[in-house]
Amino acid sequence: MQDVCAIILAAGDGKRMKSKSSKVLCEVLFKPMLKWVLDSCFASGIETVCTVVSDHAKDVLAIVPENCAIAVQKERRGTGHAVMMAREFLESNVDGDVLLLYGDTPFVDEETIRAAYEVHRAGGNAVTVVTADLEQPRGYGRILRQDGKFSAIVEEKDATEEQRAIREINSGIYWFRTAFLLEALNRITCDNAAGEYYITDTVAIAKGMGQPVGVYRSPRADVVLGANDRKGLHQLNETARMRVLEKLMDLGVDIPFTDGVVISPDAVIGADTRILPGTVIKGKTRIGEGCEIGPNTELNNCRIGEGVRVHSSLLEDSTVGDGARIGPFAHLRPGTTLQAGVKVGNFVEVKNSVVGEKTSIAHLTYIGDSDVGAGVNFGCGVVTANYDGAKKHRTVVGDGAFICCNTNLIAPVTLGEGCITGAGTTVTDDVPPYALAIGRQRQENKENWAKEKGKYRKKQ
Ligand code: UD1
Ligand code: CA
Repeated sequence: MQDVCAIILAAGDGKRMKSKSSKVLCEVLFKPMLKWVLDSCFASGIETVCTVVSDHAKDVLAIVPENCAIAVQKERRGTGHAVMMAREFLESNVDGDVLLLYGDTPFVDEETIRAAYEVHRAGGNAVTVVTADLEQPRGYGRILRQDGKFSAIVEEKDATEEQRAIREINSGIYWFRTAFLLEALNRITCDNAAGEYYITDTVAIAKGMGQPVGVYRSPRADVVLGANDRKGLHQLNETARMRVLEKLMDLGVDIPFTDGVVISPDAVIGADTRILPGTVIKGKTRIGEGCEIGPNTELNNCRIGEGVRVHSSLLEDSTVGDGARIGPFAHLRPGTTLQAGVKVGNFVEVKNSVVGEKTSIAHLTYIGDSDVGAGVNFGCGVVTANYDGAKKHRTVVGDGAFICCNTNLIAPVTLGEGCITGAGTTVTDDVPPYALAIGRQRQENKENWAKEKGKYRKKQ
């Protein structure tokens, strides 16, 4: 594709979603709809892109990449009006063609964009519309034909009973000859049921100007699906969910039951990895081969090696080496790296720490802001006190250290290689390699104390 650019409309409100934030931020598989559209647009090789946003949409701007131009639509007066806001962008890219996409139509893909472009160029069209045949066309604009030839798009609100029976719909994906679009923008009116400027009117305008128009009728109905309300959003999620799971199964991922399994379209999972029910995998998570993930687990933007087992746990922005064992009921918070063979067991939380090979943190422990060596053993109930109320401090534990149960490590503190702490010790000073640190009151037994104080309760 040469001399191409794209406009993405994202200035609509969340009215029909009953949402305070913009509709295009509603998520499909935990990824905002607009992000799906942006990703497909860039994946198809189009580099010059303009997104039309409303003037109070800081949250939308946050997901638009920096190399993307922005046009602002202050009032929501329809899709045609939104495109008018990008007039300057069009004028500076007037040679060639422009792709128009809607931010609420997440399944538009590279193949559809390219196939429609071929049709557009081959026909020398002023405008080419991607259409599809839907069982349930309700809510979409209908494709009108005269003697079989594409003539106009009519919005549902403006359609007659007879037109509403048409099942071929407007996907909201268009290619325009840019010079034509600039001309047509001057001719769009708001003379319709909604009182809005419809971009769809450009088809009839082209016809009136004697310019060729065409359609690319997509064989895949789901490519064009959009969501206007929460029910539509649920349907998109369900469609996308099954599509991702089926693709992964084809690649050798073992998903014996799909119940509650939701996996991001951007996740990469190796063959022979087994995903069990209740597992949610978000973002750009990568998982190696031969792992078992779940049941009841969430991974968000994690890198997981091979042969890793994660049971009933939450892992966020973390890296896990080969053969590690995590859970049940563990929480890896952002910035955690577990090297190969680490064990993180029941009710353990690790945050912003590096844990060396084969270290075991088996139960009821908090490790925060720490650099832990290899082959360290943490007993039950070890706590790093990393926060003094104002600042976070690091804890360093050398290879092969043995941290006994209920040790408190008051950061900043360094424990040398092979050292041992006595159970219940509060470590406030550095411990040399191979030393025993013991910091607790020595036990004293007061003979018969309980009986003499009347505290002894005889068994009834
Ligand atoms: C639109 C099409 C319809 C098509 C359907 C496909 C028009 C007039 N109708 O209807 O033919 O079948 O999409 O999904 O185009 N937007 C703005 N500014 C506005 C209005 C909308 O930026 O003033 C953006 C929205 O954020 C949204 C997109 O444009 O991403 C489409 O708007 P929406 O109101 O959802 O149009 P539909 O009624 O779905
Ligand atoms: Ca829509």
